[in-house]
Amino acid sequence: MSLAPMVIEARQPVQRSASQRSTQQWQALDAAHHLHPFSDAAALNAQGARVISHADGVYVWDSEGNKIFDAMSGLWCVNIGYGRRELAEVAARQMNELAFYNTFFKTTHPQVAELSALLAEVAPEGFNHVFYTNSGSEGNDTVIRMVRHYWASLGQPQRKTIIARENGYHGSTIGGASLGGMTYMHEQGDLPIPGIVHIEQPYWFANGGDLSPEAYGLKAARALEAKILELGAENVAAFIGEPVQGAGGIIIPPSTYWPEIQRICDQYGILLVADEVICGFGRTGEWFGSQYFGIRPHLMTIAKGLSSGYLPIGGVLVHDQVAKVLIEAGDFNHGFTYSGHPVAAAVAAENLRILKNERIIERMRDEMAPYVHQLWHAAFDDHPLVGDVRCLGYFFALTLVEDKASRKRFANGDALALRGRDICFANNLIMRAVHDSLIAAPPLVMSRAEAELFVSRARQCIDQLARELGYLA
Ligand SMILES: Cc1ncc(COP(=O)(O)O)c(C=O)c1O
Repeated sequence: MSLAPMVIEARQPVQRSASQRSTQQWQALDAAHHLHPFSDAAALNAQGARVISHADGVYVWDSEGNKIFDAMSGLWCVNIGYGRRELAEVAARQMNELAFYNTFFKTTHPQVAELSALLAEVAPEGFNHVFYTNSGSEGNDTVIRMVRHYWASLGQPQRKTIIARENGYHGSTIGGASLGGMTYMHEQGDLPIPGIVHIEQPYWFANGGDLSPEAYGLKAARALEAKILELGAENVAAFIGEPVQGAGGIIIPPSTYWPEIQRICDQYGILLVADEVICGFGRTGEWFGSQYFGIRPHLMTIAKGLSSGYLPIGGVLVHDQVAKVLIEAGDFNHGFTYSGHPVAAAVAAENLRILKNERIIERMRDEMAPYVHQLWHAAFDDHPLVGDVRCLGYFFALTLVEDKASRKRFANGDALALRGRDICFANNLIMRAVHDSLIAAPPLVMSRAEAELFVSRARQCIDQLARELGYLA
């Protein structure tokens, strides 16, 4: 049973879409016509995509009837778990009442106004405005345009450059991918665009050498100061970072990192942007990752957990300091047809109410996370194949190492982690491989029994990988 109260009335038996064709037929149809994101199409089509049929709580089922523990919450988004019927009901009601209307030309609707007020209520002090997008990527594109417009409005149009981080992830649009520090993305299509530069990521395990995590955290943060001085502070618009890097492999910065970043942004008058697309809405055990680390950002990019992934919606939360300038500056020539879409807004608002009323974030932080962290460390701290065991809120990660004591990593670590990911998948556990790490971000509503299953299944899978590599008998 999940942490959230279960919907108790019996569900009508349903004819699931997946049952209309065989798995092979779905795979053939998919291979013939669907280009998947971030995929090697030929390799995928040769193997056939796993067909996900339906979901409930922390589980998804495939078309072969396998019940799979989804320890990635879809794609870091299904924070309240699958199958919450209230959200489906709100969506259906809203589609019947007002399926769409835009907010461009002096109109609004109750759903977007209500969601905005709810966001102002749950966001940190001073965040009273929101600009809507459909995704995190569009949110970060909005950030680029917004910070440049802000500075231009203040008579400093030369303040254009945005400093981001290597191995950060900010999405896949041209702006988002440019802010991101993924070189394999930059290689395709001449990115980053001008005016975006990258500094070192705060990854002590990889880059810390002989420094303590705390000393290294200061060093990594001071790369920002060095870059500002190199560019000239008068040319720098903003610094952007994920409080915890998600897609980069759950990189948890040393405790000294964010306070020093904050000091530097304050000292040089640079806008601080927290990309909360993954960290927001509970992943760290706080509503926002910025609160966990005590960061005081000017803008926060949001998406994913805003609607728990039930419908696409994202945006940028804007601090009063920036909002005041934007409001006085006249037209901001930016927006999307579906900015603040009424159905997505209604679903997001219901999702926020569920998070709030059921105290899902607080219960995860106070009652569950300490227990699951203990399980995670007990399972992996002494594991011969695992070097860096990390967790924070409901982020869980482990890095494979050739030699534990010296933090020596495998030359083919990426391939080994992918093999580990495949073993998990074959054993009905969804984790993700990033470089030489295996990572997880389960739904916030995982029960104790489900948490025990998650960790013990992860351990069995890593043991299997260790046996294949000769690290365990
Ligand atoms: C931190 C962060 N920012 C932005 C994005 C992009 O969001 P989307 O895929 O909704 O465009 C992601 C997606 O994973 C993300 O993790």
